[in-house]
Formats: sequence, C-alpha cells, structure tokens
Amino acid sequence: MSQHPALFTPFQVGTLTLPNRLVMAPMTRSRANNEGNVPDDSTVKYYVQRASAGLIITEGSQISQQGVGYIYTPGIHSDAQVAGWKKVTDAVHAAGGRIFIQLWHVGAISHPFFQNGELPVAPSAIQPRDAKAFTDKGMEEIPTPRALTNQEVKAVVADFRQAAENAQRAGFDGVEIHGANGYLVDQFIQDGTNQRTDEYGGSVENRARFALEVVQAAIEVLGADRVGIRLAPTGNVGGIHDSNRLATFSYVTEQLNKLGLAYLHVIEALPGHPMAAKAGQEPVGPALRKIFTGPFILNGGYTQETAERALINNEADLIAFGVPYIANPDLVERYQQGAALNTPDQATFYGGDDHGYIDYPSLQERPAETAVKQDIVEY
Ligand SMILES: Cc1cc2nc3c(=O)[nH]c(=O)nc-3n(C[C@H](O)[C@H](O)[C@H](O)COP(=O)(O)O)c2cc1C
Repeated sequence: MSQHPALFTPFQVGTLTLPNRLVMAPMTRSRANNEGNVPDDSTVKYYVQRASAGLIITEGSQISQQGVGYIYTPGIHSDAQVAGWKKVTDAVHAAGGRIFIQLWHVGAISHPFFQNGELPVAPSAIQPRDAKAFTDKGMEEIPTPRALTNQEVKAVVADFRQAAENAQRAGFDGVEIHGANGYLVDQFIQDGTNQRTDEYGGSVENRARFALEVVQAAIEVLGADRVGIRLAPTGNVGGIHDSNRLATFSYVTEQLNKLGLAYLHVIEALPGHPMAAKAGQEPVGPALRKIFTGPFILNGGYTQETAERALINNEADLIAFGVPYIANPDLVERYQQGAALNTPDQATFYGGDDHGYIDYPSLQERPAETAVKQDIVEY
C-alpha cells in the first residue's frame, strides 16, 4: 500500500469532488485531424485511459482560428469540434472521470500560414524571441505580429466567451484559461510583450485587464466554480519577460482571488527541471499561494515524492503532472501501489499516430515488475 496518503485524499473543486490530488496537466499532443482540427476516437481513448486522475485538463484548444499557432491542435470554435469533444467528455464521465478544457489563444506565437496569409496578432508589434511556429513545413520563423486594435481586443474576449459556451455544450465540467507560457493572455500581462497605451497596457492594472475580462466572460457563462486559470510567473517560454514578475503576478492573483474561481494553476518548475526559473530568479509561486485563498494547483517536474511533500507542506492543494501522464495512463494506480513507471518517448510527444499516444500499457496490461523504474522524468 502507499506510503503517501496526502496524494490520495479527496478534494473539493467547485461542485466536483476529486477522489485524489493528482491533476493531469494540459498537454498538446498534435494529433487532431488537420481538416477542422477535431478531436477523434483516439482522443477519446487517450483521455478515458487517464480518467482516474482527480481532474483532467485537456490540451490547449483554440478559441478561434486566429488563436491557432500549431498544426494538428484541436479547437473549440466549430460545431464539429464541439461534437468531437462531446464524445470525449461523455466517455470520460462514463469512466468516472472529471475534465476541464484548456482555452487557448497563441497571440504572437503563430504564423501567416494559420492566418490566411495575414500577420499573427498580439498586444504589441514585438517579435517573439526564442519561439518557432510548427506548420506543415516544420518549425518556421515567427514574424513580428501586428498589435490588436482596442475593438479587436474586446472581440477576442467575446471569442473566449463563445468558447466557454461551446465548452458547456461539449459537456466539460469547466474551463481553464491558458494564461501561461508566453501565449496571448500572458503577452498582455507581462510588460516585455505589452507596450500598449490604451486601457490594456502600461500600468499593471491595465496589463491585467485582458486576463480578468477573459476570466469574467467565462464566469458569466459557466459560474466561477467552473473556471480556472493557469499562470507561469517565472516561465521563459518564447522569451516572455516582465520587469517585476513578483509585483505583476501578485496583483493579477489578488484580483483573481476576488472572483471565487475553481482554482489557480501555477507552473513553477522545481530546480533541475528544464522549465525551472533561471538562476538568480526568485520563485513567485509561494507568494501567490499566500494571496490566493481558493484551490491552488502547482506543476513543474513533480514526482510522487516531491508532490507528496508539497501537499504536506501546504504549498499546494493539488499537483499537476505532465510528462508522467503521457507515459502512464494509470498514474494514480501506479503511485498508489508504488509501482514502476513507463518511460516516456519524447519522439512521439507531438504528432504522429496512435503510437506513443494510446499504446502505453497500464499495469494490468504490463505488470510493474517488467516496467522500467523511473523516479525522475527528464525531457
Ligand atoms: C508534450 C507537451 C505538451 C504541452 N502542452 C501544453 C499545453 O497545451 N498547455 C499548457 O498549459 N502546457 C502545456 N505543456 C506544459 C505541461 O502542462 C507542464 O507544465 C510541463 O510538462 C511541466 O510539468 P511536468 O514536469 O509534470 O511534465 C506541455 C508539455 C508537454 C511535455
């Protein structure tokens, strides 16, 4: 039996009772059919295999064509996409699971290939550093985007609202706003990517406005207890940066705290992880944990042991696991039994067929003693 009881105690998120503290982190797997970017039968199987997670958060799913930055990624803006996701939610619920969809707009991290030959949009016309777009020609240079007009910013908020309505029609238990990893919401929050002079730029109050309006729009559709948001206060994806991350993300979190959200999901990788804060950078997560009084999810390089410790030390209420969930559909059962983990295959993380997607064996299919023991996953 497990030596790690905290991970396996139930926890309430809004109206949902999670049977354990393991969250499946949102992960793009780039396997949606590219005509219409619709989840298919393999997507259904992939999420059903992982239904024992306390909560599944789906891969980032675009709220509009403008929000697309990678091929083979699913959306939640067409009827066909809603119908595809409905099959996923029905099957996950039938298997006893709970599932939120991550709502995504990539902003500048896109390419004219996805935008009818037009430039991608962003808060300001600043070319992303250290980022490439994944098109049908492979990884391509990202051009300098064009700044959204004030009216267009409000139209994007409306697209998020419509996506929340679509998510409701598709049977999701809730939505997670993708406010992390250098995409549109993050581009508005951080001053390295936002040099606007209207009410969406300048002061931290103005830079937080877009994120808060998006969250508010989703709340109006679903209720606050079905809306979460993901932030990456010390992340560097796409070269995103801010002159004072602690102050910026503390302010955003103070405002979010007033809304009664389902949860705040913070990526702040543990030291040694590729997504960990750069040397000399102060962690921000502990400050946000103090500010936010609702359910708090931490993510970034956690193992069973470090997750258990974080829960016992009250650093978080829930821990999200990414790569461990790619390779271990029954991660809950493996942790419960102290069983070995399957080894993740990086070559099949993004794109391809069912191999590396829905063919990782469960303990039942391949007993633990023949699996490879792996405590720390590196990628
Ligand atoms: C293949 C892959 C795809 C990912 N896609 C997303 C995504 O769509 N949205 C998101 O917020 N994070 C995404 N991430 C980041 C993960 O959610 C998570 O933050 C990261 O893997 C660190 O957690 P881990 O160490 O438990 O894997 C992705 C990570 C991987 C490995």
